[in-house]
Amino acid sequence: MPFGRMMTALCALVVAVPALAQNAGPVTATSPDGTIGVAVDIVQDGHAVYSVTRKGKPIIAQSRLGFLFTDAPKIDRHMTITGQETRDSDDTWQQPWGEWRTIRNHFRELTVHLKEADQPARSYDLKFRIYDDGLGFRYEVPDQPNLRSANIAEELTEFAFASDGTAWWKPAFLWNREEYLYEKTPLSAVGTADTPITIKLADGTHVALHEAALTDYSGMAVARSTGTTLRAALTPGAGRPKVVKTGAWTTPWRTMIIADDAPGIYMSHLMLNLNEPNKLGDVSWFKPGKFVGVWWNMIKGEWSWARGPKHGATNEHVKQYIDFAAANGIPQVLVEGWNVGWDGDWFGNGNAMDFAKPTEDFDADMLTAYAKKKGVRLIGHHETGGSASHYEAQFDKAFKFAADHNYMVVKTGYVTDAGQIERVDPDGTKLREWHEGQWMSNHFIRVAEAAAKYKIAFDSHEPIKGTGLQRTYPNWVAREGSRGMEYNSWAGKNPPNHEANLVFTRMLEGPMDFTPGVLSLTGSDNSAILSTEAKQLALYVVLYSPVVMAADTPENYAKHMDAFKFIRDVPTDWEETRVLNGEVGDYVTIARRVRGGQDWYLGAVGNEQAHTLTVPLSFLTPGKRYEAEIYRDGDDADYRTEKRHSIAIEKRVLTGADTLTLRLAPGGGAAIRFKAAK
Ligand code: NOJ
Ligand code: CA
Repeated sequence: MPFGRMMTALCALVVAVPALAQNAGPVTATSPDGTIGVAVDIVQDGHAVYSVTRKGKPIIAQSRLGFLFTDAPKIDRHMTITGQETRDSDDTWQQPWGEWRTIRNHFRELTVHLKEADQPARSYDLKFRIYDDGLGFRYEVPDQPNLRSANIAEELTEFAFASDGTAWWKPAFLWNREEYLYEKTPLSAVGTADTPITIKLADGTHVALHEAALTDYSGMAVARSTGTTLRAALTPGAGRPKVVKTGAWTTPWRTMIIADDAPGIYMSHLMLNLNEPNKLGDVSWFKPGKFVGVWWNMIKGEWSWARGPKHGATNEHVKQYIDFAAANGIPQVLVEGWNVGWDGDWFGNGNAMDFAKPTEDFDADMLTAYAKKKGVRLIGHHETGGSASHYEAQFDKAFKFAADHNYMVVKTGYVTDAGQIERVDPDGTKLREWHEGQWMSNHFIRVAEAAAKYKIAFDSHEPIKGTGLQRTYPNWVAREGSRGMEYNSWAGKNPPNHEANLVFTRMLEGPMDFTPGVLSLTGSDNSAILSTEAKQLALYVVLYSPVVMAADTPENYAKHMDAFKFIRDVPTDWEETRVLNGEVGDYVTIARRVRGGQDWYLGAVGNEQAHTLTVPLSFLTPGKRYEAEIYRDGDDADYRTEKRHSIAIEKRVLTGADTLTLRLAPGGGAAIRFKAAK
C-alpha cells in the first residue's frame, strides 16, 4: 500500500454522533491542533448560522446560510440540525509540478445535517474541512423529492467578520473582468469584490477569502451588505438562474486561509488540498519551462496579429525567436497571430478563428522542423475572442494540429467584455455568458479534457478565476486572471505595488502567466515601465508559474545580457517554497529550492517606497557553502528616473548562518541564485 494511502487508512477516524434533538446546537469542532474553531447553530426564526474562531478569538461571527431559488421558496428559515459527524484525516501527496513537491493534507472534517422543520422539509449537509491554517466549507445537497432540480438565484452564504480590518480587493462584475488594480480600504468600505479578497485584522491576523474546486457552479464574488459583513454574490447566468443543478449536488468550497501574517497565508496548501486528486493520470509529458514569444512587439503596437505589412507571426520573425531561444536554453517559443481569423475586428468575436489553419506567411511544418532541430517547441495561441462554443466545435482539430506540430502547451484567450462570451447551444440558441459563470466553469473543464487527449497543456488568458483545479487537471498549467505585464505597455501602467498585492491575493489562486522580464523597461511609444531592472528579475521567483515568459524581444535582451543571465538560469519548477517576509502591497521576499536539486533562488519586490529587508538565510542547508549571484538595485536605482536601469550584479560566498541585508530601491527588487557548492 502506498505510504499516503496507508496514512489515510490509519488516520481516518470517523466519529458519528447520534441524531441530535431537533434544533440542538451549537455543533462545534476544531482543527487538528485546536487553532481554528467552527460552530454551527440555529438562531432566531430557525436561521442556520456558522461562526469561526482562531486561537479562541472570533474571526467570523454568526453568519447565515441558505439559497434563493428562481422557482421555489428559499431555503433559509425554520432549519433544524438533525445530526453531525466528524472525521480526522492526515495524508500526503505529491504534485507533478509546482511550488512544493510534497503536500500534507491534515484536517478534521465536520458534517452537519440540516433540514427544514416544516414543508417542503428540504435538507442539506454543511461539510467543513478544518485545517490549522483555515477552513473550507460547502453545501452538500442530496437528491430529494422536493428539490429534484435547483434553480439557484443566489447563495445566501454570509461572511460576517467579527471586526473591521484592512482589505485588499478588486471590483467584481465590471466590464474588464479580473483586470483591475487592487483597492486598499477598510473592510467596512468594500463594495462588490472578486475573490480572493485578503483582510488584515487589527491584531495582524490575515484572512484570505476565496473558493476551491469551482466546477459546474458559478464563481462567487462577495458583496458587502452592512458593516463588516460580506455575502456571496454569484456570477450571473445568461438570463437564467445563476446555477442550475439536478439530483445530488455540492457547491464549491468556500475557503478562508487564516494566519498570523501575510507570509502565513501564502504558505497554506488549503486550496490544493480542497481539490480532487489528479484525474488525468501521468502528465510527465508536460515539462515546466520558460518561453519567449512573438508577442511584446504586438502588445506595443509595432507588429500586428492580423495579416498585412506589420504581421508579427512571419517565418522570418519566428525563426529569429527560435534561434534566440535555442541560444539561451529556453525550450519554447510562443507565436500569436499565426492562424487565420485575426483580420478585421476580432475583439469579442472569434467566429472566424481557425486553429488548424496557418496564415500564408507562417509555414507551420517548416517552423516545427526548424525548431525541433534546435531543441525548441512552439506554443500555439488560441484566441477565441470569447466565442467559446466556436472553440469547442474545433477542439479536436485544434489540439490535433497542436500535437502534430510538436506543441506541448497552447495559450488560450477569451478577449471580450464581461458577460459577452458567446455560447451557442446545439439547437442554435445563442446566449451571452459570463467568463466566471456556471457554463464557463464547465467549458474550462472541457478544454482540459480535450487538450489532455492530445497531451497538450494550456495557459488560459481572460480565464475563470483559479480555484486549485490544477491539482485535478494538471495540464491546466497557468492562467492570467489579473493585470499582467501587458498593462505596462499601455497608458495606465501597473503601479509599483501591484506585484506585492498580487502575491497575497491573485497568487493564492495558483500559477499566473504574468509574462515578466521586460528588461528594456519600455512599453509602447518608448513609455517607461514603473520598475527597476532587478525587480523584473525578482518576478521570476516571486510570481509562480510552471510556464514563464521572458517577455522582452531578442534585440532588447541583447542590450542587457548580464541581467538576462538570471532569466536563463532560473528554473520554473520547485521542490519547496518559503515566504521569508512580506506585507500586502508593500514588499515580499520568497525563496524556492529547485525541483530535484540543491540550488535556491530568492526574489524580493517592493512598492514605490525604498525598503531595507533583513533576511536570515537559515533556509539554506546548514554547513553547506553557496555561491550567491546577486542581482540588486544599484545604489542610485529609482523607478521614477532613467536610473531604473541601475543594477548591481555581484558574487558572494554565503551559508545558512549568514543574514543578508537587501536594499530595494523605490519600485525595486532583488534576485539571487544560491549555487550549492559541490
Ligand atoms: C490579451 C492577452 O492577455 C494577451 O496576452 C494576448 O496577446 C492578447 N489578448 C491577444 O490575444
Ligand atoms: Ca489579458
